[in-house]
Amino acid sequence: MKTINNLPILFLSLLMVACSQNKNQDDQQASAVFKINSNYLLLPIEDNAPEIKMQVTYNDELPVEVIHLRLAREQADYWVKLEVTNYKGSEISIDFENTEKNSWGVKNIQQSDKFEFDYNETYRPHFHFSPEYGWMNDPNGMVYFDGEYHLFYQYNPYGTKWQNMHWGHAVSTDLSSWTYLPVALAPDSLGSIFSGSAVVDVNNTAGFGKNAMVAIYTSAGRVQSQSIAYSTDKGRTFTKYEANPVIPNPGIPDFRDPKVFWHNESSQWIMSLATKQSITLYGSPNLKNWTLLSEFGDGIGSHGGVWECPDLIPLDYNGTTKWVLIVSINPGGPNGGSATQYFIGDFDGKTFKADALPYPLWMDYGRDNYAGVTWSNIPENDGRKIFMGWMSNWDYANNVPTKNFRSAMTIARELKIKHNGKHLVVSNYPVVETNALRASESVKNNIVVENELLVSNLLNNNKGTYELEMSLKPQNARVFGFMLQNSKGEELEFRFDMTTGFFSIHRNKSGLVDFEGRFAAGMNAPLVKKDAYKVRLLVDKASAEVFINEGELALTTLFFPTEVMNTLKFYTHSGKFSAENIKIYSIN
Ligand code: FRU
Repeated sequence: MKTINNLPILFLSLLMVACSQNKNQDDQQASAVFKINSNYLLLPIEDNAPEIKMQVTYNDELPVEVIHLRLAREQADYWVKLEVTNYKGSEISIDFENTEKNSWGVKNIQQSDKFEFDYNETYRPHFHFSPEYGWMNDPNGMVYFDGEYHLFYQYNPYGTKWQNMHWGHAVSTDLSSWTYLPVALAPDSLGSIFSGSAVVDVNNTAGFGKNAMVAIYTSAGRVQSQSIAYSTDKGRTFTKYEANPVIPNPGIPDFRDPKVFWHNESSQWIMSLATKQSITLYGSPNLKNWTLLSEFGDGIGSHGGVWECPDLIPLDYNGTTKWVLIVSINPGGPNGGSATQYFIGDFDGKTFKADALPYPLWMDYGRDNYAGVTWSNIPENDGRKIFMGWMSNWDYANNVPTKNFRSAMTIARELKIKHNGKHLVVSNYPVVETNALRASESVKNNIVVENELLVSNLLNNNKGTYELEMSLKPQNARVFGFMLQNSKGEELEFRFDMTTGFFSIHRNKSGLVDFEGRFAAGMNAPLVKKDAYKVRLLVDKASAEVFINEGELALTTLFFPTEVMNTLKFYTHSGKFSAENIKIYSIN
């Protein structure tokens, strides 16, 4: 009875709730129409604003473009551009989800023929690649073609946090100065464009043309699948293959980052693909039809997180070919967050078998080298395996204190197999082209350090871009090292601990550290005891890459000093050590 009596009231109140929800939804759904008379719509972004979905309809045409962005609510931290040059004279309408009708952000969208911002902000690197503006993560599609090194990269043009994955694009002839090119691949109905590789199809196996550049990437939509796109104009424009995806998702959520090379011995393309916590190898005659060959990873290496961005490469060791499988992992790195491990072994055209080595072995024990892979199509008479990584860590990458751009790449490094005195390692060391960046050289006297010793004024007019080389001989010192310092008491410490057998970097006092709780922690690497350590350190505004014994050990770290560090302090906690052949180069 009671229930029946109350039914109309219940119905009425349900209706009212529904109406008020509708009303709220309406309030939260802004839209705007722009009659286009300029090259760009400038969108104000506030990093702390919630992310909203913006749907852009060009010329009343479908499909709409979907962009996720942090549209400013009160003030713009910075601006991003939406290119509308091709729509001059027509109308573009934009719907904004979860955005109030009178939102400050919508009202302040501007039309402009110019897009200007402070490119030279404090932590903009000088000789490392960074995106012109917006967010960047993994290097993608690295391929050498016709005199140019191509670098594609995970890119968000609509903000400085991870979102809207595109492939950004740049080229270089010397691996150190880069020219920005327009975005190469943009999201489509299969999803956004995640990491992948590019090859030159010398024999036209895919039928896109002889020497077509073919990009193989992950389409990340509802599921992750592998797609291809080709370019016949030196990578300037790409056409997506109409029958994508070429490898549909087999029911694995983490199924991504295809890296492809031509394997002469078995006359086929080989793809290594990250599949959850393993690497699956596929083979193909034509880049379009792929067959599963084998799976690697069970019970070996680090499994503290998802496996990503593999790369299988041959490297010569004393006249024999060894195969190296590079695998990035996040989290689960040796010092927290993301890092890149590798395996050394053999590959027979089907299966990769790892040699017995003390895995996990890490490409770089610093916290800021991730998702690195190698360039393809390097000419045979060069023959190098050239590697580049993303100089950040998923633990804090979205929050580092830069403004109009976020993240840089490491310096390009040559990979080699070496013996470190205990076992084989893959060494990584700046490519020889890096030496050409040196502008001036200053040589310091050899020194013996018993307590501490300061080399002040490392460089006149130090702009925070320099290189330091020296040989450190431990003698009877147990814990010793050196620090970069500035007049504000900030320091970045590099420590050799012969007692524990670790080399470490400490950045907890290096300047801005508290933008993310996990940033300040230091990083350790196992150190093989030797009589001398050759040290090379590259500093570029907010990054330091240190190489011990020509890359047998490499550590990359970000740091954000509030003043350039122009003092070098040597110290020992006990005993003495010497520093010899100290050279400081400014880098212009
Ligand atoms: C690695 C990664 C890849 C993925 C890409 C997405 O940093 O997570 O596995 O393809 O970033 O941006």
